Amino acid sequence: MTNDAGSAGLAIVGCGYVADSYRRCLRLHDGELRLVGVYDRDPKRLAAFAACWGDRTYASLDAALADPDVRIVVNLTTPESHADVTAAAIAAGKHVYSEKPLGMTVGEAENMRDQARAAGVRLAAAPCSMLGESAQTLWAAVRRGAVGRVALAYAELDDGMVHRANYRDWKSRSGRVWPARGEFETGCTFEHAGYAITLFAAMFGPVRRVTAFSALLIPDKRTDPPLPHPAPDFSVGCLEFDGGVVARITNSVVAPYDHRMRVVGEDGVLELREPWDYASPVRLRRASQSRLARLIERKFGSLGASRVTPARKTPFRGGRGEPTMDFMRGVAELAESIRTGRPCRLDEDFAVHVTEVTEMLQHPDRFDRPAVVRSSFAPIAPMDWAA
Ligand SMILES: NC(=O)c1ccc[n+]([C@@H]2O[C@H](COP(=O)([O-])OP(=O)(O)OC[C@H]3O[C@@H](n4cnc5c(N)ncnc54)[C@H](O)[C@@H]3O)[C@@H](O)[C@H]2O)c1
Repeated sequence: MTNDAGSAGLAIVGCGYVADSYRRCLRLHDGELRLVGVYDRDPKRLAAFAACWGDRTYASLDAALADPDVRIVVNLTTPESHADVTAAAIAAGKHVYSEKPLGMTVGEAENMRDQARAAGVRLAAAPCSMLGESAQTLWAAVRRGAVGRVALAYAELDDGMVHRANYRDWKSRSGRVWPARGEFETGCTFEHAGYAITLFAAMFGPVRRVTAFSALLIPDKRTDPPLPHPAPDFSVGCLEFDGGVVARITNSVVAPYDHRMRVVGEDGVLELREPWDYASPVRLRRASQSRLARLIERKFGSLGASRVTPARKTPFRGGRGEPTMDFMRGVAELAESIRTGRPCRLDEDFAVHVTEVTEMLQHPDRFDRPAVVRSSFAPIAPMDWAA
């Protein structure tokens, strides 16, 4: 059997916190994906991960990249390492699935896109939540006109005061403590805005202009030692899409936890409560409401809205301590697109676009106001089971 047939051989590079979530989801893709080996530049982390999962390890990145059985490199390193690891994998002729952000700047992301094109390999990036059942259900409802013409969309990506939570006790299955310092320095916008941008862009097309504001509201995140370069912990931006829809996206690790995504059309509002949960319900509230319905909404919030029938039942509901998202679905999407020769829904153009808009949200000072987005992408197909 060649590498092109059957399941795609994967190497995971970066065996930290999120790698355990990917590893847990691998079993959902039997016959599609096959893990060949794992590598981390931290030998202790590599050993702990491999011991937990029983995986084969590589002694170096070069050794992983030299393995002919590896078709796709799954880059789960820290964001500052994404570009180096991705570039090395591309140079070795491997397809790459990168955790987000594809790069720390749009320029870095564009370089990777160009390198991948020149090398004739595919490049795709997380997040893949827009391929999840809850996101596809929302999108399908928009397509069939459940709320009429869409005018406005809101996404809240507020994570609460994470620095006051007991995150030092948050451990992945193989024992990696949640990497708070990295998250505070990379910034909540770079970490999370992609969850909203990907779904909104898939539904509404490319973003054309961004008007954003960001700030560091709580510089002291009580880390020991203090953070040398804390990133903005709050951002808000308005995105103007090609088709005329406007979206407001808010990110913070300050305001109380709220991950709602809402799509407002002339005939009603669709709400997805938690895009990080593939089983999260989508609710519809019609615009034409009785006085009683408005009173119920005022008093009980979304209780008065009806549940949209899911595009399909998620085969993956998470569970006690289990991830609520199928992290491997994006890798499977890339693998299938390679196998069949079809476009990948999370391809490099899309990833560059998401990176550009994310950078505009986190660092508005680097761009004109409003910032004009230069990247674009071809229309994205919904998942076959939601079409
Ligand atoms: N932590 C989460 O809950 C979470 C969720 C979704 C996505 N992510 C994304 O996943 C990525 C990794 O995050 P994490 O939380 O797992 O971080 P982490 O710090 O726990 O793990 C990253 C691992 O990559 C390794 N690494 C860094 N540079 C490397 C290199 N050049 N070569 C080999 N190994 C290298 C580190 O040693 C570390 O073990 C980030 O892009 C993050 O945005 C994280």
